[in-house]
Amino acid sequence: MEDDVARLLDALTLEEKASLCLGSDFWHTAPVERLGIPAVMVADGPHGLRKEPEHATQGGLVESVPATCFPTAAALGSSWDVDLLQEVGVALGRECQAEQVSVLLGPGVNIKRSPLCGRNFEYLSEDPRLSGELATSFVLGVQSQGVGTSLKHFAANNQETDRVRVSADVDERTLREIYFPAFERTVAQARPWTVMCSYNRLNGTHVSQHPWLLTEVLRDEWGYDGVVVSDWGAVHDRVAAVKAGLDLEMPPQLGHSDRALVEAVRSGELEEAVLDRSVARVLSLVAKATEAKQADPTADLDAHHALARRAARECAVLLKNEDDLLPLDLRAGQTVAVIGEFARTPRFQGAGSSQVNPTRVDVALDEIRDAVREGVEVRFAAGFGLEDEDEADPRLAEEAVEAARGADAVVLFLGLPARAESEGFDREHMRLPQSQVDLLRRMAAVNERVVVLLANGSAVLTSTWDHEAAAVLECWLGGQASGAAVADLLLGSANPCGRLAETIPLRLQDNTAYLNFPGDSGHVRYGEGVFVGYRGHDALDQPVGYPFGHGLSYTTFEYGDLVVDVTGRHADRDLRITVRCSVTNSGRRPGKEVAQLYVHDVAASVARPPLELRGFAKLDLAPGETGTATFELGARDLSYWSEAVRDWVLEAGDFELLVGASSRDIRARATTAVDAPRVAAPLGAMSSLEEWLADPSGADALRGVLGTTDDGRLAGALGNPELRRVVGNFPMSALAGFANVDLDRDDLQELVARVGDEPSGKV
Ligand code: BGC
Repeated sequence: MEDDVARLLDALTLEEKASLCLGSDFWHTAPVERLGIPAVMVADGPHGLRKEPEHATQGGLVESVPATCFPTAAALGSSWDVDLLQEVGVALGRECQAEQVSVLLGPGVNIKRSPLCGRNFEYLSEDPRLSGELATSFVLGVQSQGVGTSLKHFAANNQETDRVRVSADVDERTLREIYFPAFERTVAQARPWTVMCSYNRLNGTHVSQHPWLLTEVLRDEWGYDGVVVSDWGAVHDRVAAVKAGLDLEMPPQLGHSDRALVEAVRSGELEEAVLDRSVARVLSLVAKATEAKQADPTADLDAHHALARRAARECAVLLKNEDDLLPLDLRAGQTVAVIGEFARTPRFQGAGSSQVNPTRVDVALDEIRDAVREGVEVRFAAGFGLEDEDEADPRLAEEAVEAARGADAVVLFLGLPARAESEGFDREHMRLPQSQVDLLRRMAAVNERVVVLLANGSAVLTSTWDHEAAAVLECWLGGQASGAAVADLLLGSANPCGRLAETIPLRLQDNTAYLNFPGDSGHVRYGEGVFVGYRGHDALDQPVGYPFGHGLSYTTFEYGDLVVDVTGRHADRDLRITVRCSVTNSGRRPGKEVAQLYVHDVAASVARPPLELRGFAKLDLAPGETGTATFELGARDLSYWSEAVRDWVLEAGDFELLVGASSRDIRARATTAVDAPRVAAPLGAMSSLEEWLADPSGADALRGVLGTTDDGRLAGALGNPELRRVVGNFPMSALAGFANVDLDRDDLQELVARVGDEPSGKV
């Protein structure tokens, strides 16, 4: 292939090269017939194929061919199941092959910074590690079928408000620790064929023409060698974009961007070699896609529907279950009232570019009717209309109350109406429509056994109403088979095993991005820094509605003690920490537990989140069975990104390793001491007195110039403890200007020269 690419590069005219850096239409790369270079097709999206039929003309936003609608990313994220994500990926890859699509435009790994982001249903988690591991599996799955993926939207695209213009103003540490790692891990471990740049600006520069992001970080540091494609319409200056590392513009601004590239090369503004780099990447993609096309591809849509059903079961999160109300054990002669329009008109996906035309849709009400034992009466009442916002239709509500009265259980389907969340805009609040909450109150007043089933893509507040329900099952937007999955879970043929991939706060105001979302005047400041999601709630010691990682089961699990095994040393770059924890199914049903490993740097010199997820293991256990969760940690897992040294820094000291069933339900912990060379920014004239004294060679040098007292203290004014408390944080250059300090500028220059050769201790 490499030879072919080189040969083609020689044969292409400048105009043809420029044309290859743009699509030929909304969904195809440009062909060059003269040289036998075909066009390949790309199509959305993360949880199902959205391919525009041949005859359609509207950018695929209205019509698409039938395809399996798998659970949305918000749901899949809650599965915490890497194997499942891979299976879904494989199925999507097969459907793409069958439809002649070469690149699927997903997964989306943007972090859920605020619960208000309109596209949160398309993203996996508020946690970068969870997002990265799941996305890696997904990409490996799709690409195992000879179909590429597009890891999107790179980067810091965490809102829809003003999404094409807004500048996400984010410090580098926050990017490195929160917004980059899911991309970094997926790039390193799954090599997605394409990465899609986001619409927004990052610290003032449009991402589509951001050389640091698209070249220095993505390629030079992470080793990415695939194609960077623009989000649809994200290119503003084609020449600047190609220079920054953006290879393929979609959709193409035909006659404009191609001409700009040609003219820039002719005028000398753009080196042809730079254009060639992008052309070569596009050619490699086309070659890879063409070679990987299967001869007679088919997709087993029945099997995919069954997979969608299993996946939806894995994603549902049992938030509460008082007195083990679930699973419902209904016997002949008993009655269940199924209430809520969503039981009949399911909401199972979000709107925008990811919207799939499902091959079929399971309706929960029908599935429950089919699944209950013979002789169980299933009553239905809509309770509210999908358009009802604050007030329910009184007639519908009254009918529902009558249906619930005297029933042996009430299954109430609540959720966000479709208009509440979509690509293109953010939400303004996190509440369910008041009409639904009022209906729940009325249900609870006539029946103690109310189960709430939620259908929503972004988190909704539960704190104002969940005390009225005996059980709450969060089903997210669970894809086309969610109706059947819900029946399986309600009636106990499946056991819930999803865990929250995002915190449900008590109040929207508790979200640490609250004051800075969605920004204004063209800027959104990520003022909360690394304290996103549970990292922020924990640092503020806030109570939450339901914590990150939470999810109940119909069985129970017990955790054993941690066994920690440390090998190697950070200084030798081979530090490995293995953490093992046994987990036993102590209940009476088979079930799955997600053991979660968090790390806490006990004495960090910078503000670090109290807990950070560094691994997870989903264990499938029969009653009485014990399994072992094993986690492997390396130096990076214990490090933070230092703005001062512009690198990852592991600080020596104690680290707590905590394993639990959620971020707020730690079941076993151990502390391990880790040795590491001291890393500090090189000392200079602007380093403070305390920084000099904290550095062994700096302190020595200073003592050499100023001398020491009999008891070993630094001599002179700077050694005076009282004075040090007041001016210890002054840079040395300022101190050298003070008359009463026995250090002049010449001394300082000598000091700086003396320590300048010292290594900073970077590993
Ligand atoms: C979305 C992308 C999508 C693309 C193509 C854009 O508006 O942001 O996620 O892949 O359209 O439909």
